Amino acid sequence: MNILGIETSCDETAASVVKDGTTILSNIVASSVEMHTKTGGIIPEQAARQQVKSISPVIKEALKPVFPKSRKAPDIDVIATTVGPGLIGSLLVGVETAKTLSYLWSIPIIPVNHLVGHIYANFLVDNKTLPSFPVLALVVSGGHTDLVLMKDHGKIRWIGGTRDDAAGEVFDKTARLLGLNYPGGPAISHESSKYFSRNSKPNLKQFPRPMINDDSYDWSFSGLKTAVLNKTKSMGELNIPEYSAEVQEAIVDVLVVKTLRATKKFKPKSLLLAGGVAANKRLKERFRSEIKKQKIKVDFRVPPPKFCTDNAAYIASAAFFNYNPVSWKGLSANPGLGIV
Ligand code: KG4
Ligand code: ZN
Repeated sequence: MNILGIETSCDETAASVVKDGTTILSNIVASSVEMHTKTGGIIPEQAARQQVKSISPVIKEALKPVFPKSRKAPDIDVIATTVGPGLIGSLLVGVETAKTLSYLWSIPIIPVNHLVGHIYANFLVDNKTLPSFPVLALVVSGGHTDLVLMKDHGKIRWIGGTRDDAAGEVFDKTARLLGLNYPGGPAISHESSKYFSRNSKPNLKQFPRPMINDDSYDWSFSGLKTAVLNKTKSMGELNIPEYSAEVQEAIVDVLVVKTLRATKKFKPKSLLLAGGVAANKRLKERFRSEIKKQKIKVDFRVPPPKFCTDNAAYIASAAFFNYNPVSWKGLSANPGLGIV
């Protein structure tokens, strides 16, 4: 079964064709991030306008492998589109385009929750083995930080999440305080690698690790943000690689400690990372080394970086494994959707 995935929840316009939920036939992503780097963050109105410009060429390109010139319609069985959460203006572009194509090609649509979709980047395995259930998944993106337990496809229980800022948001905001460009995650990661190349025995303990010892599986990042702000105000010239590494380590520490505590309690077969922050090299390294050190038996998986950040391949995969086709008439965007 070929599914055309469409993803336009934020500043990426993406379309992808995925066969049987696991094999990518095409994966096209147009990003307006360079525009947002100039303004230091996303301006929703501009992101939406860019979505309108990019959506048709992106879909046209994605359909190339399944659209022989001799045919009037591509070899697509169903369309999957992100319905939320996200920016309303951006979401509407994908949703309304999906509705038009559904009407035109007389095929149904599968609505996909963007956050659940992120998890399915781990299911794009082609011919290799799929993750086994139960799954514990940590979704760390620009707008959300959620820990969920999945007994099966569609059976999701929320275990914990952030009480204030999302992990990606903290990377973005602290990067700005350190004078780095948007998006902050890749910028902080890049600066940190300079610190690590100079320090074989890193000692990174300057910033607080809020809620690291409490019983919940929740996070709070606002204290870290304030601590970085105070540091930038009280110190003159900061060593950017060192402070980037400090910020990154504080975020990584709390994510790893709490997620692994949940792994020991719930004993999932697979532990999956997902979302833009899962592209972070240090986060992956620390998870791997702690799992080994603590002798935790779990199949730990992280998608390749380009599938951690927003794309439409995981949207198509999520739709295949959570097959609930609807008519275009009943479809609408829901910007405030939660992961469950
Ligand atoms: O999942 P995503 O692409 O979009 C949302 O759904 O939000 O996540 C974007 C977030 C941004 O906050 C960005 O700074 C962060 O992911 N990010 C990273 C890295 N790459 C992207 N954070 C840390 N390290 C990275 N390498
Ligand atoms: Zn995302």
